[in-house]
Amino acid sequence: MTYFSIRRAEQHDAMEIAKLHVDVWRQTYRDIAPPAAYAALDEQRRYDMWSGKLSDSDYHLHILVAENEGEIVGMGAAGRPSESIFGPRAEIKHLYIHQGFKRRGIGRRILSDIASLMKDSGYNAAALSVVKGNEPAELFYRAQKGRVIGEFIDPGPIWRSQNIVYAWDDINDLIS
Ligand SMILES: CC(C)(COP(=O)(O)OP(=O)(O)OC[C@H]1O[C@@H](n2cnc3c(N)ncnc32)[C@H](O)[C@@H]1OP(=O)(O)O)[C@@H](O)C(=O)NCCC(=O)NCCS
Repeated sequence: MTYFSIRRAEQHDAMEIAKLHVDVWRQTYRDIAPPAAYAALDEQRRYDMWSGKLSDSDYHLHILVAENEGEIVGMGAAGRPSESIFGPRAEIKHLYIHQGFKRRGIGRRILSDIASLMKDSGYNAAALSVVKGNEPAELFYRAQKGRVIGEFIDPGPIWRSQNIVYAWDDINDLIS
């Protein structure tokens, strides 16, 4: 059993989150993403992105990290829906678990805690998108009883990826 704790991300976490994001993203999409996207989405770009989000006081944006022995080994973020296909549902926007900490219940815990925060922000349902070809993630969301409601193409410009949308019409189904 692996001990981990979940907490809200803070401004000083931006670089550690950026490194985790780049490492896990590149492992996950190595054979799926176009080489230009793979190269462009580097630590500096992700740092700028997370640094900006962590300084945002948007009540609807929640960013959580999982820590093991003081190191960030997982993160998740959720907020307002960004695509019309999500409807009025909260959008789970990111979920990344360090390669060495997968299958230890951390993804499921972050998903549950972030759904709970979105519920407190007024959302009754949740949804997210998975890039086509990311089969482990699809298996994970199906194991959490997600239902496919459609597809969309990311507007880009870095990667016009094809995405499958999973939804939970009762947000309580994600909360354990
Ligand atoms: C997908 C991801 C978030 C899952 O997080 P995790 O912490 O590894 O998953 P959990 O340990 O919470 O898994 C809970 C259950 O989901 C299912 N599951 C998780 N990963 C699975 C996989 N690769 N294959 C099949 N089922 C899986 C299992 O039922 C698992 O329970 P079990 O381990 O007792 O069998 C994580 O593997 C990850 O970060 N992947 C790379 C990045 C990514 O694809 N993120 C999602 C983008 S949309």
